[in-house]
Amino acid sequence: MIKLNRRIAALKPSATMAAETRATELKAAGVDVISLAAGEPDFDTPERIKNAARRALDAGQTKYTPVAGTRDLKEAIKLKLKRENGLDYDITEIMASAGGKQAEANIIAALFDEGDEVIIPTPAWVSFVAMVNLAGAEARLVECPEDAGFILDPDRLRRAITPRTRGIILNSPSNPTGAVYSPSQLGELAKILLEADLWVLSDDVYEHIVYDGAVPHIFQIEPRLKAKGFALNSLSKAYAMTGWRIGFAAGPKEVIAAASRLQGQNSGNPNSITQAAAIEALTGPQDEIKTMMAEFRRRRELVVERVRKLPGFKLPNVPSGAFYAFPNISELIGMSLAGKTIDDGNSFADLVLSEAHVALVGGNDFGAPHHVRLSYATSIENLNAAFDRIAAMLTKLKR
Ligand SMILES: Cc1ncc(COP(=O)(O)O)c(C=O)c1O
Repeated sequence: MIKLNRRIAALKPSATMAAETRATELKAAGVDVISLAAGEPDFDTPERIKNAARRALDAGQTKYTPVAGTRDLKEAIKLKLKRENGLDYDITEIMASAGGKQAEANIIAALFDEGDEVIIPTPAWVSFVAMVNLAGAEARLVECPEDAGFILDPDRLRRAITPRTRGIILNSPSNPTGAVYSPSQLGELAKILLEADLWVLSDDVYEHIVYDGAVPHIFQIEPRLKAKGFALNSLSKAYAMTGWRIGFAAGPKEVIAAASRLQGQNSGNPNSITQAAAIEALTGPQDEIKTMMAEFRRRRELVVERVRKLPGFKLPNVPSGAFYAFPNISELIGMSLAGKTIDDGNSFADLVLSEAHVALVGGNDFGAPHHVRLSYATSIENLNAAFDRIAAMLTKLKR
């Protein structure tokens, strides 16, 4: 057997990407699969952003750029952070990367080490644990109960902090639950985090996809946290730019410099054409987000209504942000169909794919093995058809 690096050998494929890949493979084999697995808006990138890319290409902007992004892009990010989050950063405190994922992975690798613990409230996005483990640190998962709206409560946070704890990753609105922290909830957590002197990584990737007013930023609620915090973001979701690969981190310049050194050695600058498109995305008119949100809002209503009608599905909390529903399917555990028994969210998702040809993501890798994630970043027609298929399949389950 080939001996791999210990941490890479332990690395699992991303559950969300694996679900999407299985759906794509089945489609390629001629099966009519409806995917509710993808974590990306189904809208096209707005034309003004594509035009900026076309202009950059024509102008020959096809060379290496500074590793952490061009000065113009960093200025655009600085403006965005001020305009939308009320946060002041210098451009030396900003690093652009090939996606929010790369920005986060590089910051995590720069900050944490063997022996360190990083708190991750769960359910959480599948890649956080992997990134922390790749840095050699330990992920300390803290379960946030469904009946508390999947929100981390101060007592649980306090109990999770040990002498080895060095940081926490917060994600509001959350992938997969859609939970959004209120200003007072953030304020209470901020007090504890400040006192414990932890690094606070705020994943703001879904900040624009929110249904009940603007999302508060923890560094605005408690400005003293900003000195030990990172605002982590991406253009993937807000501007329908998942394939372009552009995201960024903002935080203390020593860590940004370290993470940029890492980026300089293992990948280099984010794509030069994408950077030009990102400047337009961040500084041009922001109307497309409203149009996209109107559609997500319609879909959310439909999804909540239809999920709640599925026998065995429970969805006590209406998601306040992002484009996912995260229903509880624990009542279905132990039931079976076609010789396959439902043991958990993952096995249920497998069954739905093979028997109903609908792709979902099991909740196991989000830290919630009795749940499944369903993305409504797809048309109303697809959603209705997918729910019809799932409902028909559920009638065939036997105990
Ligand atoms: C919570 C969260 N953070 C970060 C990302 C990274 O997005 P990207 O690398 O496309 O910018 C995602 C993508 O699914 C996400 O859900």
